[in-house]
Amino acid sequence: MKNLTKIAIAGVGTVGQGLIDLIFKDNGRNKKKFNIEISAIASRRKLKLSKKNLSNTKIFKDASSLLSFDDYDILVELIGGEDGVSKNIIFDAIKKKKNVVTANKALVSKHWKKIKTLCNQYDSSLKFEAAVAGGIPIIKILNEFLKSNNIKRIYGILNGTSNYILTNMLSTKKNFSEILQKAQKLGYAESDPTFDINGIDAAHKLSILSAIAFDIDANLSDIFVEGISEMELIDLMYAETLGYKIKLLGMSQIKNNNIFNFVYPCLIDFRESIANVDGVYNGIVVESDFCNKSFFQGEGAGSNPTATSVFSDIINISNNHSNKLRNPKEKKKNQDISERFGSYYLRFTTIDKPGVISGISQEFKKNKISMKSMLQKDNKPEKSKNATIVVTTHNCLERNMKKALKKINKLNFVLKNTVVIRIESLK
Ligand SMILES: NC(=O)c1ccc[n+]([C@@H]2O[C@H](COP(=O)([O-])OP(=O)(O)OC[C@H]3O[C@@H](n4cnc5c(N)ncnc54)[C@H](OP(=O)(O)O)[C@@H]3O)[C@@H](O)[C@H]2O)c1
Repeated sequence: MKNLTKIAIAGVGTVGQGLIDLIFKDNGRNKKKFNIEISAIASRRKLKLSKKNLSNTKIFKDASSLLSFDDYDILVELIGGEDGVSKNIIFDAIKKKKNVVTANKALVSKHWKKIKTLCNQYDSSLKFEAAVAGGIPIIKILNEFLKSNNIKRIYGILNGTSNYILTNMLSTKKNFSEILQKAQKLGYAESDPTFDINGIDAAHKLSILSAIAFDIDANLSDIFVEGISEMELIDLMYAETLGYKIKLLGMSQIKNNNIFNFVYPCLIDFRESIANVDGVYNGIVVESDFCNKSFFQGEGAGSNPTATSVFSDIINISNNHSNKLRNPKEKKKNQDISERFGSYYLRFTTIDKPGVISGISQEFKKNKISMKSMLQKDNKPEKSKNATIVVTTHNCLERNMKKALKKINKLNFVLKNTVVIRIESLK
């Protein structure tokens, strides 16, 4: 018989309830099979559990009560928030030499160094599989399966809410705010969706993936972040005409000992597997020296997949399986976005008159930018003399592109600031 593992659960919301359901499903099969006892639950909500199942469980109304409770082996923190009570109980548990499982990407990303130091000092482990892409076991893949390989680059769609919005804008031909409202009604976006749509949630996850893949410390401030809140339907449609999908992509890669981490919306060739990860799904690609390109797809969030991730960490710890956070081997220099060398999608709104294309071309030439394709449509429905010109470019430096656009946006025939979206070649 497996040794008894006592867990204390802090927070019974979407993920916490999923975990309880998973433990007790099929007449408590998982509870018996893995010999788990819930020795404490801290919940502000009324628990949906029979008295029989709670006979050995101490119930607290507030998670801070766990600070003076220590009859557990693993603290399972499912409250959220990068500081406050979550941080207090996690740090307290580590100092009590307990292990911790959390789904809290914001906290893990922010306190990476401190967590690492404390875990090493107190010989505890903290696991966070559920913090990145709920239904994809990407932390275990990096820490175990691919540990023998050198990772070259890792990228993916890390935020299900923004992926749902982009996918549905295109399929229903509706604008950003209409689809955001729909996502909120369906529970795919929170009432405050800021972190999802401004890219910060994806950046939290990317900072964790990057730290594990490249043995560095997680650092949000090293990531260039742009979200999707400015995205217009017309650009999703033009991108489709050109053979691309627009996705909010997070990427971490090492080039010449420099690390380049970003989260931004970009055009991806529709033939790439990641371009076809739609709706609330997440997709992650890892490129490594012995496995080449590995692609993983799964539900990015939600009660059940996330609970599955949390439970897998609990089993790992109860099997004495620990992956210590390691100190970086060497400091990597961070590459600035202005050094990006890639191609671009540009949408110009101009007066429809001769000389427009040559005016744009002149600024391109001065900044070593060459056009790859051009599409021009008159905006006939507006019955105006405006023209929309969509251009894709060959690879150029981002700082050159910025310089050119600064000049182009001031030309007298340009009516609106030019829309610029990066094209990401994943070859
Ligand atoms: N939801 C997902 O799909 C998902 C996926 C991956 C990771 N995560 C992460 O998982 C964590 C939990 O997310 P969630 O979606 O389950 O959040 P949630 O539904 O808001 O649940 C959090 C629960 O914690 C409770 N709580 C807050 N402060 C407390 C305290 N001091 N003592 C006891 N309980 C307290 C809340 O109470 P009230 O009900 O009173 O607010 C709520 O019931 C977060 O770190 C999140 O980023 C979530």
